Amino acid sequence: MPWLSGAYGNPSGHHSVAAAARTALDQARDVLAGALGTVPGDLVVTSGGTESDNLAVLGRALLAPGAVVVGAVEHHAVLNAGRAASQLTGQPLRTVGADRHGRVDLSELAKALDPTVSLVSVQLVNNELGTVQPFADVAALVRRRAPRAVLHTDAVQAAPWFDVAVLAEGADLVSISAHKFGGPQGAGALAFRRPVELAPLLHGGPQERERRAGTQNVAGAVGMAAALAAVRAAAPREAVRVAALRDRLAAGLLERVPGSVLTVGPGVPTAPGHCHVLIEGVDSEELLFMLDTMGLAASAGAACASGAMEPSHVLRAIGTAPEAARGALRLTLGHTSTDEDVEQALEVVPRAVASLRSVGASPGPLARRSA
Ligand SMILES: Cc1ncc(COP(=O)(O)O)c(C=O)c1O
Repeated sequence: MPWLSGAYGNPSGHHSVAAAARTALDQARDVLAGALGTVPGDLVVTSGGTESDNLAVLGRALLAPGAVVVGAVEHHAVLNAGRAASQLTGQPLRTVGADRHGRVDLSELAKALDPTVSLVSVQLVNNELGTVQPFADVAALVRRRAPRAVLHTDAVQAAPWFDVAVLAEGADLVSISAHKFGGPQGAGALAFRRPVELAPLLHGGPQERERRAGTQNVAGAVGMAAALAAVRAAAPREAVRVAALRDRLAAGLLERVPGSVLTVGPGVPTAPGHCHVLIEGVDSEELLFMLDTMGLAASAGAACASGAMEPSHVLRAIGTAPEAARGALRLTLGHTSTDEDVEQALEVVPRAVASLRSVGASPGPLARRSA
């Protein structure tokens, strides 16, 4: 709060107000760099996950043109940065498929890698399904088959739960976003774990060692560091607690909602908070609208896809039939989730599904709303 209300020094300035802001930023950088397995000078503070991903993918492709390899289930911040990189450099974009649980297909990845590859980007945890990627295998393959490649990982969904410094072992560049772990929106970071030259996306002053021009968001960085320190301290206990809640939610949904299945199969490692189900015979947009009116905030796919009525690219990539994908429901639990939240979800989701099924082919709430 002080950095939002009065302590307005520019960390690049030379007077004592500026020095106070610089000290706060440096302290935040120490915490973030430690958690991401790098040194403070090699951590760029950004405006969030999207910018961090773009800086990694586009920044590398522009500086060292070559093929770009990304997973098909990546967030659009990586996928679309890869597309832009390919358009701007005229180099190929290779998209690597996933298995039916959302794990990157290692044999396809091996085929996509060769000495012309400049950048590979594979996430640590999928944002829709929660699937944890076999990142150590990815890193080993990249080193063996694409020696020129810089390996970037989008750790946005991993940071709330896992020790990213360990899980991202072998990555050169790591993206995080503060609002995924309780920090403020509009703050993120890109950690450099090995000396990598990137073309800056923003041109101007020499901030962030000339990797990102512009006055830093001091309050955002301080909030992000405080939040990351707090989730790291709570992680072992919280991961167990939230996974137990999630398992109860998943089991309860399967039991109380006929025609529902878990999208990710048993035994596949997932982040503790993710619960993704496919529900037969309902339209997820109608379901989401009804759940919202019942006090439950849920999602069908990526947040940015909902509203656009586009089938999720992740479900398409893992081979979910379009008819099944229409009934996708993602319930995500976090550090603030409680037993009562799970009880409420287990009460309202079956009620909403039953109600939508009972109206059958008649216009759903969304159709009525837009009518
Ligand atoms: C895996 C992943 N990458 C990137 C982003 C984008 O982050 P931001 O919203 O901070 O731009 C998100 C946001 O949902 C995400 O889940």
